[in-house]
Amino acid sequence: MTLDDYILACTDKEPEYLARINRATHLRMINPRMLSGHLQGRVLAMFCNMIQPKCILELGTFTGYSALCMAESLPDNGVLHTIECDDELEDFILANFKSVEHGSKIKLHIGEALKVIETLDCTFDLVFIDADKREYTAYYEAILPKLKTGGFILADNTLWDGKVLKTADENDRQTIEIQHFNSLIATDDRIEKVMLPLRDGLTIIRKK
Ligand SMILES: C[S@@+](CC[C@H](N)C(=O)[O-])C[C@H]1O[C@@H](n2cnc3c(N)ncnc32)[C@H](O)[C@@H]1O
Repeated sequence: MTLDDYILACTDKEPEYLARINRATHLRMINPRMLSGHLQGRVLAMFCNMIQPKCILELGTFTGYSALCMAESLPDNGVLHTIECDDELEDFILANFKSVEHGSKIKLHIGEALKVIETLDCTFDLVFIDADKREYTAYYEAILPKLKTGGFILADNTLWDGKVLKTADENDRQTIEIQHFNSLIATDDRIEKVMLPLRDGLTIIRKK
């Protein structure tokens, strides 16, 4: 048994409906590793149980796995807005949301995250950033005014496969931007922050 296997054995099982979406994503998608997966999915679900958000925003839906994890504990009057730019994923995402009762609390927006954020007239309790790595700072600045005081942002992939430690190639816009985002977050007094070495790095941000 590996340490990763042990961690999963000591964590809640992946719910059956999510295991099915996980399998279907691996069968049908070219890059299934983008899906949050069992451990991070349970972490997102646990954070939502702790924070008890009523209004959640997700940037980067992919096949809907992380959105469904975060919507599990939403109250009846709660909503999760999720934004995905790839319109070819729409039917698969909507079928996944329809496959479980709490999927009805999720509103899918097909479009560019930065454009859709402008149209959302909500104050968010929790935002999960998981879309284009080259736009993390722009997402952050667009979201912060719409986040309630005491609200949280979770930013995924902030270790970027360890590339954050190296000098990035000048053409590697993703690594350069993640490094820039991490430096900004580390020095921004408007927020409290902690980076967790979970999977590919998950930064937790709280607006003061
Ligand atoms: C890492 S995947 C999201 C995984 C999903 N959150 C999960 O954990 O299951 C990133 C997704 O963001 C989408 N994306 C990339 N750039 C985007 C943009 N500018 N606006 C909206 N979605 C974007 C991609 O098409 C992809 O489906």
